Amino acid sequence: MSKSAHEATGSKPTSSKPDDGVTLRVPYSYFGAMYDKEEEKAVLVAMKQDRQTKGPHLEQFQKEFAGMCEVKHALAASNCTTAMHAATQAFGIKQGDEVIITPNTFIATSLVLLKEGARPVYSDIDPKTYNIDPKQIEEKITPKTKAIYVVHYGGQMCDMDPIMEIAKKHNLYVLEDCAHTPGAEYKGRKAGSIGDMGCFSFHSLKNMTTLGEGGMVTTNNDEIAAKVARLRAMNTAAWDFPEKQNTFNFAGYTLTKTGISDYWIPSHHDVIDDDGKWGNNYRMNETQAAVGICQLKKLKWMNEKRREFGRYINEAIKDIEGITPVYEDPNCYHVYHLYTLCVEEEMGIERDAFMRILYREHGIQPILHYQPTYHYTGLKKLGYPDKLCPVAEKFFYKRELNLPIHPRLTKEDCNIMIEGIKKAAEKVRKQIENLDEHGLFSS
Ligand SMILES: Cc1ncc(COP(=O)(O)O)c(C=O)c1O
Repeated sequence: MSKSAHEATGSKPTSSKPDDGVTLRVPYSYFGAMYDKEEEKAVLVAMKQDRQTKGPHLEQFQKEFAGMCEVKHALAASNCTTAMHAATQAFGIKQGDEVIITPNTFIATSLVLLKEGARPVYSDIDPKTYNIDPKQIEEKITPKTKAIYVVHYGGQMCDMDPIMEIAKKHNLYVLEDCAHTPGAEYKGRKAGSIGDMGCFSFHSLKNMTTLGEGGMVTTNNDEIAAKVARLRAMNTAAWDFPEKQNTFNFAGYTLTKTGISDYWIPSHHDVIDDDGKWGNNYRMNETQAAVGICQLKKLKWMNEKRREFGRYINEAIKDIEGITPVYEDPNCYHVYHLYTLCVEEEMGIERDAFMRILYREHGIQPILHYQPTYHYTGLKKLGYPDKLCPVAEKFFYKRELNLPIHPRLTKEDCNIMIEGIKKAAEKVRKQIENLDEHGLFSS
């Protein structure tokens, strides 16, 4: 597929703050969604059809997404957070349960546990992949542990084999937060196909989008799929009539005692609970699903573009001392949702000074993404100790920064970033050496 086949609909901003004197050369985002005539046509078709929700586009999108992930079931939702919430309810996670989880994630992954009264138990990350470190999970397991929630950070899947082994040994569910990884692979297996459930995001900044919001649950488990299907849509169910056989004749019509042979009796559906969990309206609409079908067709191409740019940057900066490019696990097909670069203070580069120079002197806009989830004010109240996950804390507060990455970047954008990284690293190192000479800097 040629690049020109996919014209993005957005444009690049030229400044992040009009009054800070910086002209942006490579902004962090707002490169626009990768829509073209196909999406435009699909939106109009969906808009004009009678069924605006629960219609043919949803069916098709779910089927094709399941095919892409190589799973039995895919169930669309309004976003990844609602997908994960329905998944959490389907697992039966409740007040007092514990779930082992990475601190390197968006709040959504913990939020769905907190909403059900469960306690997220944070387990530290691997310093190279920034994913949950399987070696540290087992020591966090208690009799209250019900599940492990992993996040495939930045586009690269976690080391799933040891995680699944631990889960099997202790009879725990595994949820894969795949918000960053549609189309990613681990040992040839697709994201969302290894744990009990996978949950995807189609937010506008993700690798594929359904008009800015959207989500999907994937699973191979029939029972879980049926629960999620109910929980995302009000937990409605068909009426169950034990009297079905108990019929009688009235004025020439065969009726049951409850009158179910008439279409208006009883009301359309029953409402049930799933082990005390009540339903939600977490549905995706037909127009979003129609766009999802188009986006799915170009997902491979969009992921390849991200990989091409990410790898180009990796290669160009790999020898800069104190700068760690993206690490690709040889077991994984990385889809570069993020380009996370680390700066290493021990090797003479200080993160905030480096970012300042990149931004102010080169017009490149890096950002920091998260912080350890347990540091948010709301979660601190729950009594998490400081230094709970030292590798994650060092990653967030000393090492990481995220550079722009998008299928619509150009080689020229990448070259600006590469040049900026080289110059900024050199400048920070020199400044630190000077300060060191005068005994002014200590890490
Ligand atoms: C790792 C992760 N999980 C979940 C979410 C939530 O996705 P959504 O906005 O679709 O609810 C995000 C969103 O950025 C995310 O990055």
